[in-house]
Amino acid sequence: MKELQVALNNDRSYPIYIGAGLLTQAELLTKHIRSKQILIVTNETIAPLYLAKLQTALGGDYQVETVILPDGEQYKTLEYLEKIFDQLLAKKFSRNATLIALGGGVIGDMGGFAAACYQRGIAFIQIPTTLLAQVDSSVGGKTGVNHPLGKNMIGAFYQPQCVIADADVLDTLDDRQLSAGLAEVIKYGLIRDPAFLEWLETNMPKLLARDKDALACAIERSCINKAEVVGEDEFESGVRATLNLGHTFGHAIETGSGYGHYLHGEAVAIGTCFAADLSRRLGWLNDADVNRIIAVFKAANLPATPPKEMTTEQYVDLMAVDKKNVDGKIRVILLEAVGKASLPVNVDLAQLQATLNGYAG
Ligand code: NAD
Ligand code: GLY
Repeated sequence: MKELQVALNNDRSYPIYIGAGLLTQAELLTKHIRSKQILIVTNETIAPLYLAKLQTALGGDYQVETVILPDGEQYKTLEYLEKIFDQLLAKKFSRNATLIALGGGVIGDMGGFAAACYQRGIAFIQIPTTLLAQVDSSVGGKTGVNHPLGKNMIGAFYQPQCVIADADVLDTLDDRQLSAGLAEVIKYGLIRDPAFLEWLETNMPKLLARDKDALACAIERSCINKAEVVGEDEFESGVRATLNLGHTFGHAIETGSGYGHYLHGEAVAIGTCFAADLSRRLGWLNDADVNRIIAVFKAANLPATPPKEMTTEQYVDLMAVDKKNVDGKIRVILLEAVGKASLPVNVDLAQLQATLNGYAG
């Protein structure tokens, strides 16, 4: 097992445990649990696979309750968040209770937000079960839900007590979801770790074949990158925004095409290709750089071209609802070079429209 640290101020630092078979290692969990009351939040797909295993690991010493949500990005809403509060209240959970989020990014974001809000904050533990959640969403404390008008627009920064990333659970993840997770892995290479990008370009066939060593290496290196960025800028006043490369475009695609149609990682892959094209228009990247970026996403079996049915006006309208925007102006993360992200850049509307009109991955 590898243990990394997310180093934060005021004793809020926490470990990320990465390894095989961690779901059944009870002591990893129990040392972070403060009381007898535990709520496990998961979904209808993950529950039959892993809920009993987790319950067995916890043993009989706790009052363990569960909330099993429907599966899908379209349920990452205030309405379904209430189901978690309903259960916490119905079972009379106190402020020293612990919420365990067992699932992908949707469950992690919702569980974390519920923990942030219930009685103004209870402890929570992330057990990410998708590659995307293990390399990105479970680390760093961004929690929240979607709104019909904008993705992740309602939420809180709220850090977990620990993250337990059990590599074995990825065995049941389908290939499309594995590729979606690779989009966020590639992101770290593009924004700040060019040597990792080269490693990914070489090792992509192994990752797609689920080679255990290659996956373990990609998860660890991604978490090191994420922990460093979050440790430097927990509340996104600066460098943390670079983790949003491709996300402004990507969130517009997710919202515009209907939550759940494109997977988050797929939308981010397309969005990053847009960002690369816009970076080229600013003279920061050349054709070879852009082609290299498109190639690495394609090698991961990810899409690089946008949905045909979305119009430029729709993108601009949706991108105007983004957390990086200031005074209503659209701002995006671009690439100054392959391996070096910019801070948020005010977008020139004409150039943005040129990218949206002219992009052909
Ligand atoms: P997801 O949570 O929808 O999970 C993807 C699918 O895989 C679901 O159908 C799920 O039931 C299934 N699944 C999960 N684990 C499985 C397993 N081990 N075996 C079989 N099936 C399994 O999607 P995701 O890609 O994990 O997360 C995307 C979400 O994460 C988005 O809502 C996105 O906004 C959010 N996100 C948040 C952050 C953050 O910093 N908080 C970062 C990136 C993404
Ligand atoms: N996924 C972006 C962030 O955590 O900041």
